[in-house]
Order: sequence, then C-alpha cells, then structure tokens
Amino acid sequence: MEIDNVTKRFADYVAVKEADFSIGSGEFFSMLGPSGCGKTTTLRMIAGFETPTEGAIRLEGKDVSRVPPHKRNVNTVFQHYALFPHMTVWDNVAYGPRSLKKDKAEVKRRVDELLEIVRLTDFAQRKPAQLSGGQQQRVALARALVNYPSALLLDEPLGALDLKLRQVMQFELKRIQREVGITFVYVTHDQEEALTMSDRIAVMNAGNVDQIGTPTEIYDRPSTVFVASFIGQANLWAGKQTGRAENGFVPVQVLGSTLKARAGDTTIEPGGHATLMIRPERVRVSMEPPTGDVAGVRATVTDLTFQGPVVRLSLAAPDDSAIIAHVGPEQNLPLLRPGDQVHVSWSPEASLVLPAADIPTTEDLEEMLDDS
Ligand SMILES: Nc1ncnc2c1ncn2[C@@H]1O[C@H](COP(=O)(O)OP(=O)(O)OP(=O)(O)O)[C@@H](O)[C@H]1O
Ligand SMILES: [Mg+2]
Repeated sequence: MEIDNVTKRFADYVAVKEADFSIGSGEFFSMLGPSGCGKTTTLRMIAGFETPTEGAIRLEGKDVSRVPPHKRNVNTVFQHYALFPHMTVWDNVAYGPRSLKKDKAEVKRRVDELLEIVRLTDFAQRKPAQLSGGQQQRVALARALVNYPSALLLDEPLGALDLKLRQVMQFELKRIQREVGITFVYVTHDQEEALTMSDRIAVMNAGNVDQIGTPTEIYDRPSTVFVASFIGQANLWAGKQTGRAENGFVPVQVLGSTLKARAGDTTIEPGGHATLMIRPERVRVSMEPPTGDVAGVRATVTDLTFQGPVVRLSLAAPDDSAIIAHVGPEQNLPLLRPGDQVHVSWSPEASLVLPAADIPTTEDLEEMLDDS
C-alpha cells in the first residue's frame, strides 16, 4: 500500500500534509497522534471515502485514488461498528460471502473458520444483544475479514470498550492479525495501544507525519520534541549545542552545565538551539558522585511518589529545571526526603539531542489526550 505524497485539503484547511509512506503486505501499521491530527482522514483516503487533493493512493501497485470504496480490496472497521441486531452471530458473519453469491459450502467454511479465529464458535447462534462489548467487537472483526480483504482498516475500534477489555482485545487483535496474515492499518490516539500491537507506527502531528518507525525506534530515537513527549514520558530541556558531533556525541549546554549527549538525526550547528531528551527510567540517582563515562548534575529532591515498581522522583537542577527520575529498587537508595541533595546522572548513550521546539507542558499533553 503506497501513500504517495498525499495532501488533503477541506477548503483552505490542510488536514493531511504531504503524507508519503508505504505499508508492507501483512504488516500491523498504526497511525498515532492527538485529536484532529489527520488520522481518520488518511484512513478514509485509503478506504476510498475521501479523495486526495494531491498525490495518489496505490493498492497492490494500482492507483486507486478515484476508485470507490466497494471496488477496493480493503475493508474498514469503525469505532461504532453496526452489527445486524436481528441476525445471529453466524448470519452476521455470513452476510459478506452471501452477498458475493458464494455457494453454501464455501459460506459455511469461511464463517466457521472466522468464528474459530475470533473464538466465538460457541456463540454462533446468539444475537448481538446477548454478547459483551468485546465479543461484539470480535463479531465485527470476523465480519470484516470473512471476504479476505488484502487490508483491514481500523479506526479506533476499541474506543468504546473499558480499559481492561481494551487491553485484552489488543492482544486478541494482534493474534488474529498474525493468524490471518492480512495487513492491518490501525488508527489510535492511545500510544500504549500503538506500542503494544504495531510492527510500525506513523506518529502524526497537525496533519504532518512526524516520524515512522518500529515502537522501539520511536521510543528510543524520537525525531522531534513532539514525538518524544507524546510517546512515553521524557525529560526535555531546552539549551544550546556548543560543538560539533564527534563519534556520534555532541556537547550541549543544559541544566547549568555542559553535558555529553548522543546526537540526533537532525544536524545542529554549534551555537544552535537544541533540546536534550532523557527518559526518566534512564536517570540514575546517587548520594555519591557518579564515576565513568556519564553525564549528570547535582540536584535537589523536590517530590517523591511511590508507584509500585518504581519511585517517581522530582528533582531540581542547579538552574532550577525540573528533572524526573523513575528509580527502581536496584538503585539501592536510602529513604529520600524533599530537600535532600543528590547526584543525577545517565549514560550519554541514553540521551538524545533533538531540534529545538516548544516543549509541551503536562497541561498541553493532557489537553491533547482529552480532546481524543
Ligand atoms: N469533511 C470535513 N470537512 C472539513 N474539515 C474536516 C473534514 N473532515 C475532517 N476535517 C478536519 O480535518 C482535521 C483532521 O481530522 P481527522 O478526523 O482526520 O482527525 P483525527 O486525527 O482522526 O482526530 P480524532 O482523534 O479526534 O478522531 C480536523 O481538524 C477536522 O476538523
Ligand atoms: Mg479520528
């Protein structure tokens, strides 16, 4: 599937800007981003419900930009899927192959196979109203897969389910996708969901695709401040890069010090503005000064929260910047109190220098997620 330099405008408004990527056969591909960033619009163009203003959509090598939805070999599952309430589960799933005029034996073979895959064989004779939300969602999936589309497009299909059921369904969806081997294009604003299920993720921000990569690549090597803050938690400090890259490392001025940091993919000239990123679980806290090839500063504990597996420590750097550290039992720290002086440090390898950008506040991030 190729999204070839696609732009979508609604009157003057640019909903998707120059999206340019391809999705491999059999891949679980997610589009992730906050509300209004253009995920659904992109999916609707792949499905055929919208036409690109510029660029082309190709499926299996053919330009389908102007081909209507029912003539494309893809199927869509929406958040509010509608099952036929008066039909049994079996008949709901049989609807597709029957409308393709498949013979009785073939219809039976396909429906039984799909009900097996979604583990609803024992529920075949029930009506949708007699099923839980997760079971209904699996009927919708079976129904969308029964005609063997080359790709299944899913727009927040778990959005209506509660958290526990959503987590169960994430594993189910991934298992089903592996079993049927069909390409899944999955839209979500939930980063955990995308990280759990996807082979690759496209992170979208205000109509732009900021980054495409595997969950690990995106988490370890985000390309922008937006991606770093949207996926997982990150310490992000604005500062300056003070020298050139040497063996992949650069000096950056942040937290009132000059620290050695891993260079990112964007080249920044010496003296240029830059943002240093470090994940909270990579920050070490110690009473003694750290030794070896580390970057770090002295800091004052400002707050502690016990979170089960880790203690979330808030600290203040010499320049008053906030530092967040997630400290596990292996760090053998004494009981800390606000006001205590400690050393924070990390391996320069664990840090990353990103192009300068506005750093979203916690409130900004909460707002982005609330909107969804
Ligand atoms: N038919 C339309 N006419 C005008 N503007 C539209 C239309 N469809 C979408 N938009 C605008 O395009 C932008 C992207 O919308 P889209 O539905 O793709 O967002 P999304 O990423 O799916 O968001 P959400 O997570 O809230 O579903 C939004 O600002 C939206 O208002
Ligand atoms: Mg949407």
